[in-house]
Amino acid sequence: MTTDLGQQRIGIFDSGVGGLTVLRELYRQLPNESILYFGDTARLPYGTRSAAEIVQFVREIMTWLLAQNVKMVIMACNTSSALAMEMVQAEFDIPVLGVILPGAQAAVQQGKRIGVIATPATAASNAYRNAILEMDDACRVWQVSCPAFVPLIEQNRIFDPYTCEVAREYLAPLIQQRIDTLIYGCTHYPLLAPVLRSLLPVGVQLVDPAVRVVAAAAQELELLGLRNAGAALPTRFCVSSSPQQFAQLSVQWLGCTPAVEKVVLPAVAPEPATLEPVE
Ligand code: DGL
Repeated sequence: MTTDLGQQRIGIFDSGVGGLTVLRELYRQLPNESILYFGDTARLPYGTRSAAEIVQFVREIMTWLLAQNVKMVIMACNTSSALAMEMVQAEFDIPVLGVILPGAQAAVQQGKRIGVIATPATAASNAYRNAILEMDDACRVWQVSCPAFVPLIEQNRIFDPYTCEVAREYLAPLIQQRIDTLIYGCTHYPLLAPVLRSLLPVGVQLVDPAVRVVAAAAQELELLGLRNAGAALPTRFCVSSSPQQFAQLSVQWLGCTPAVEKVVLPAVAPEPATLEPVE
């Protein structure tokens, strides 16, 4: 029996609704691709977790996505991309794209004084700073960790005056450094665009890594002969906690109420320590 690999879904995942910013870019650039979206809502926010926890969560999600027969994975989560990319490349045999390199590439083409707003784990990893300076060491990079943003977005408090106050505080040191470019270093943050835009000087360019990672995915699918020739199936949405809550929150960005399934991720042992050969 022959299977057309192109018809298989692209798997994307995030801790919650943040990955929808990557999903909408997939709809725009790759309308024929079928998507499987997973939100690890039972364990969000990822950004205040330890590196070991994040790596293990990603290991479990990747194992589950592979069991769903996806043809490619986009880590639509900066925190996972920053902390778990190496593990994923070492342990999983499937094309995988993260958002850090595409985001850094887009930023160095926009400006020289680059601000990054990110989760505490992503900021502490220095993934964006290192990637940017490797591409262009004439750039200057300022990173701000924004722990309050993801909980506020997941609680649907985007237009709450408190959110604007918090954003003003996070952006102040970047504005003071006269940044010309700001990277959304967390996929949740483009959902705050109206608030952030209202606080930033007009000349600051906003970089959403989603645009570039999806363009890279398109190229890779083409290269591997994995483009779907037919029409896309409806997106399959899966979460690890309440499907109703995810559906209610995401309707404002999807434009329709999605059917959402609750799934249980497989228990996967952390990578066993490598045994030394006995002499
Ligand atoms: N949206 C994810 C990211 O890009 C995760 C945020 C979180 O759960 O803290 O980092």
